[in-house]
Amino acid sequence: MLAVALPDYGNPALLKTQLCDLPRLPMGKLKPTEVVVEVFASSVNPTDCKQRKGTLSTICPLSLPCILGIDFSGRIVRNGEDSPFNVGDEVFGRQTLDRMRELNGTYAEYCIVDCSDIALKPTNLSHDQAAAVPHACLAAYSSLAHVGNLLEKKRQSDKAVLVLGGSGGVGSFAVQLAKRHFNCYTVASCSKRNMDFVKSLGADEAWDYTDAFFLKSAGLTKFDVILDTVGGDDYWSAFRGSLSHNGVYVTLVGNARHLADEKSVDWGSMLEIRADYLFRQISNKLGAAENYHILTGSQIRSSDLKIISSLLEEGTLRVIVDKTFSIYDIIKAHEYSETHHAVGKIVLQIKQSGADKAGGEQVREIVCHVCDLAAESYPCPRSTEW
Ligand SMILES: NC(=O)c1ccc[n+]([C@@H]2O[C@H](COP(=O)([O-])OP(=O)(O)OC[C@H]3O[C@@H](n4cnc5c(N)ncnc54)[C@H](OP(=O)(O)O)[C@@H]3O)[C@@H](O)[C@H]2O)c1
Repeated sequence: MLAVALPDYGNPALLKTQLCDLPRLPMGKLKPTEVVVEVFASSVNPTDCKQRKGTLSTICPLSLPCILGIDFSGRIVRNGEDSPFNVGDEVFGRQTLDRMRELNGTYAEYCIVDCSDIALKPTNLSHDQAAAVPHACLAAYSSLAHVGNLLEKKRQSDKAVLVLGGSGGVGSFAVQLAKRHFNCYTVASCSKRNMDFVKSLGADEAWDYTDAFFLKSAGLTKFDVILDTVGGDDYWSAFRGSLSHNGVYVTLVGNARHLADEKSVDWGSMLEIRADYLFRQISNKLGAAENYHILTGSQIRSSDLKIISSLLEEGTLRVIVDKTFSIYDIIKAHEYSETHHAVGKIVLQIKQSGADKAGGEQVREIVCHVCDLAAESYPCPRSTEW
């Protein structure tokens, strides 16, 4: 199958679009809850870039060579016996990190996923749009609904949410969810050029983080949830005083801006983050008004995909795609993600692009690196039937 192979940790140029073996079937067959999905589109998340660089490799090593990718939208071509789906169903979902390490990711024509991590694709979305949703929107939803407790507060009308980084992949979903689903007074921070954009998503106010007075922006509004998609203790220090009683500060990133972007997160920095975290938790317990949380992967629930799917179908949520890249342009897609200035999401077309039709066969003929690297444990696509 055509896929993007990563032979080693490093810069985007290491990513190669080439012929790779089909996904591994560890025991030679699908588990009852697994399905094989023919992937039409994936998306690029900053997490993919951190994994590629290896900045998370101490705490979360990959099994190299591998295929990256969390998100997908596609069609089921094989179905485990306990799967509630049917062959031919159009689905979208995510590959969890654990499964990605074992079974590879979704920058590929096929992936094996657990049926608990997928949902039927919203009928009004293209595969490109649907692939942009799962990881970013689930992270936004989990932060607001579960960690931020907005589900419990759904019927109160005087809630307020601040989204730091409201124009990015997670932020663009978070602003819409806060305003249109949870009915909160919503403030979003972004650079000046994106202020009208976040307002078009529903933000009542947009704050320009490039303004010299940004860290003093907190006014009289008290926020039930502050969702930080950018990271940095300066944000926590500046805005913790703006939390309402029982309000929650949820960071997706941690104590440094774009954590793990350049500098590796090793055990030392993990300890430092944990110590900060513990200290803040103790402060919470001792009665400090502020609740500080770092969202972890285990708090993201794939089961929320069904709710998200209906919000998309009824038009409460829109998918904002900034740029769409062909699988052959994966290097450019990662480079763009690393600017940290995508407006909404970055989509990776796996099968739909004209480039696929024009160049696919040629690539299949020319390269077979991963077959060479891992032929023992992977069946060769040309000789295997599954
Ligand atoms: N913990 C988890 O489970 C989890 C889950 C999902 C994502 N994440 C992490 O969350 C982060 C955000 O993900 P994403 O997909 O939303 O990223 P993204 O699409 O790259 O979003 C970038 C956002 O950050 C803003 N920004 C860039 N530089 C900034 C700066 N110096 N100061 C303030 N704001 C700045 C951008 O605004 P402008 O373009 O307007 O400048 C934009 O709104 C990533 O680090 C990702 O790894 C964590």
